[in-house]
Amino acid sequence: MTNQIQPVRGMNDVLTDQIAVWQFVEQTAADLLTSYGYEEMRVPVVEHTQLFKRAIGEFTDVVEKEMYTFTDLGGDSLTLRPEATAGMVRAAISNGLLRGARLKVWCVGPMFRHEKPQKGRYRQFHQVDVEAIGFPGPDVDIELIALTARLWRRLGVARVKLQINSLGTAESRRQYRELLQAYFRGHLAVLDADSQRRLDGNPLRILDSKNPEMQAVIAGAPLLTEHLDAESAAHFVALRAGLDALSIPYTINPRLVRGLDYYSRTVFEWTTDALGSQDAVCSGGRYDGLINQLGGDATPAIGFAMGVERVVELVRLAGAAPAGRPPDVYVIAQGDAATRAALVAAEQLRSALPQRSVHVNLGGGNFKAQFRRADKSGAAFALIIGDDEIARGVAAWKPLRGDGAQLDMSLAELPAQVRAALTN
Ligand code: HAM
Repeated sequence: MTNQIQPVRGMNDVLTDQIAVWQFVEQTAADLLTSYGYEEMRVPVVEHTQLFKRAIGEFTDVVEKEMYTFTDLGGDSLTLRPEATAGMVRAAISNGLLRGARLKVWCVGPMFRHEKPQKGRYRQFHQVDVEAIGFPGPDVDIELIALTARLWRRLGVARVKLQINSLGTAESRRQYRELLQAYFRGHLAVLDADSQRRLDGNPLRILDSKNPEMQAVIAGAPLLTEHLDAESAAHFVALRAGLDALSIPYTINPRLVRGLDYYSRTVFEWTTDALGSQDAVCSGGRYDGLINQLGGDATPAIGFAMGVERVVELVRLAGAAPAGRPPDVYVIAQGDAATRAALVAAEQLRSALPQRSVHVNLGGGNFKAQFRRADKSGAAFALIIGDDEIARGVAAWKPLRGDGAQLDMSLAELPAQVRAALTN
């Protein structure tokens, strides 16, 4: 079919057979966050382009080449959010939530980045995003990481490892940046075009390069962790002591610089060896300067985001998701009167037994076809209503699993009889 409309590249449908895992991941995260005192907040998927430029940084890959930016009918430049932190912080400022207050908030939803799609990397993807605003840390840094470690345990995901680093303050980073620029200028011939371009704007990103020909020069570069200001160094020591006290294993990765410019001090990332090259499943860090930079009072903050698609895949690989629940009762009927009676009976059951799931065969079909559907649904019982049953004022109750016997139930007392049968 040539004129069929295609999906947008890199944007996926989540079909019904995947929903049980998605709901398990999202519900487990929601329950855990609630239990740690985080509250859900919902913010728009579209913001002024300027917000992302100012928050994420002009020289980042995300802003330079990955944003879905458009001019709306009113002439405003808007962007589909590539991440949630900027919007969550914007919402906190716009709604006056920050004045001296502390916020522990989270959101879940789609993000958009025009990246090259591949396994685990999509143009529309989902994040569970968590932000703790108004806390200088390191207590909150430690607790947030403990929360993520607990999330993996609750999800039954084992193949993840934690990396941490400290980026220092904006001031110590500025000094380090100069050191790094001087170092890389001394090795200009080895730098690829991308890195040469980054040298002025964002030399720290050169450390992130995967280019094998640059690994030697990167390995020789000065380390940020060795040029931290005293307070950031103390913060990092306390973070590590906290993780040790909680027995959370980690490695220090001095090359972990993150792709967004707003970070300061603590940064962390959970990676996996189970998903191929797109190995980051959850990343975040402290962004003490961002709120002030976006026009709010200077307020320290930290957060992280988990990539839902990647975690869903890990849960699926681990076989850790509970299966979807089949219906308790599948109602089968033939003929107009019997179909009406079936619809009435099903509504009565739903009122009387709201925790139970009742499916009605819709769209007719002979008894054989309807039984096939009942069986395929996984239902434990079928309730059968035909002309003969109507004439006798009954419905037939038939166990579809095991070898229980079929019996008649009075239509007049159906809810009570079904309740009794289901609790047997
Ligand atoms: P990020 O590292 O850009 O951080 O993204 C967080 C997570 O989202 C990644 O670890 C990954 O699991 C997932 N992810 C990112 N891009 C894609 C993609 N194209 N396809 C599938 N999954 C993807 C942030 O977004 C920060 N806002 C996190 C944060 C919150 N920092 C402080 N607060």
